Parts: sequence; structure tokens; C-alpha cells
Amino acid sequence: MKSVNSDNLSIIEAIYQRRAVRNFTDEKTSRERILQLLDAAVQAPTAMHEEPWEFMVIQDPTLLKRISESAKNALSLSTEKPAFTASAMHQHFTATDFNIFYNAPSLVLVCAKPVGEFASADCWLAAENLMLAACAYGLATCVIGFAVQILNTSEWKKELGISDEIHIIAPIILGVAAESALPVPRKKANILAWK
Ligand SMILES: Cc1cc2nc3c(=O)[nH]c(=O)nc-3n(C[C@H](O)[C@H](O)[C@H](O)COP(=O)(O)O)c2cc1C
Repeated sequence: MKSVNSDNLSIIEAIYQRRAVRNFTDEKTSRERILQLLDAAVQAPTAMHEEPWEFMVIQDPTLLKRISESAKNALSLSTEKPAFTASAMHQHFTATDFNIFYNAPSLVLVCAKPVGEFASADCWLAAENLMLAACAYGLATCVIGFAVQILNTSEWKKELGISDEIHIIAPIILGVAAESALPVPRKKANILAWK
């Protein structure tokens, strides 16, 4: 079993302290630390031991900005949900100075190979492992669902060098929090039955 530095948070502390962070310092997470996070990610449970995950790390700020602009453009052009298009939230998400990655210095993509019906579930479990491990190491993360649709277009997969049959499941921004995020309270677990 791997030893964990006692300066790091325990798993229970990480579960309760992890927050979606949307304000980062410029400090780029080292390659060594990201490799540790990916190693934690792949310890996740995996159906039929398929290990369907693949990862991509993007730290090029110009590329991150281009993906962000592309996602915002797609949202601007979408006519699918007229009520949302008219909303203040839509205006916020398409504003010129809004970056869907909140200027985070790193983006990790958790991607799935097309194997079995649980590939997506496995990847989300890996994503949570990664986020909890990041929290334990004093780093901050946030899932950016906004990026999923655009990243899964053939154009972006081609540009990123991801083959067409790979599905991008969980884009996760990563870095050092510039300020501590406030806890978002949860409703109590609703128990439907206990028989
Ligand atoms: C599947 C998924 C997609 C998400 N997409 C976004 C997103 O596009 N942008 C964003 O700012 N936060 C996104 N979030 C973060 C959630 O808003 C956040 O987890 C939620 O408000 C609860 O806050 P907490 O993580 O601090 O507990 C996403 C979270 C999940 C699980």
C-alpha cells in the first residue's frame, strides 16, 4: 500500500473540505503532482476491470482560452432552449470576459474508451478520486460540464489528437485556490426505505 504524507488531509477531511473552486492563482501544478493525481484516479472501482479511462492534460493558456471561446460560441448559436437564451445566466456565460475554465492553469480531461456499459460510471469514479486526492494535497478543482459538448466534437477531438471513439467524460480544472470557496450545503440524505 502507498504511504501518504501525514501533512495531507485524510479521506474524510477531503470529502468534507472539497469545494468547486472558480478562482485560481497562476501557479501551475507540477507534472509530478498531476501524475500522482492520475495514479489516485486509476485506483477507482472499475466494472469488469475494464479500466476504460484515458487522460489528457492541457496547460497551454492559449489553447484553454480557445476551447472556452468555442464553447461560448456554441452556446450563443444554440437555439435549443429559448428560455435559457433569454436568461441572465446565459448572458453571464457568453460575456466576452468570461472564461469557462475560470483561468485555471490546468485542465485534466477524464476520457472513456468505448468499452462496456459502465465506462462512463468508471470515469466519474476516477474523476472523484482525482478531485479528492487534489484536495488532500491542498489543490483545488471544479468539474466543467460546460466544456463536454464542444470537446466531444470531431473538430476538437482532431485538434487535440483524441481518436473519435474516445468520449470526453469529465473536464476538471485544477490549480491553487486564490480564495477559499464557501461550502455549498447539502440536503440530508433521503432514505427511501431501510428494511
Ligand atoms: C457533472 C458536473 C458538471 C459541472 N459543470 C460545471 C460547470 O460547467 N461550471 C461550473 O462552474 N461548475 C460546474 N460544476 C460544479 C458544480 O456547480 C458544483 O459541484 C456544485 O455547485 C456543488 O458545489 P461544491 O462542488 O462546491 O460542493 C459541475 C459539477 C458537476 C458534478
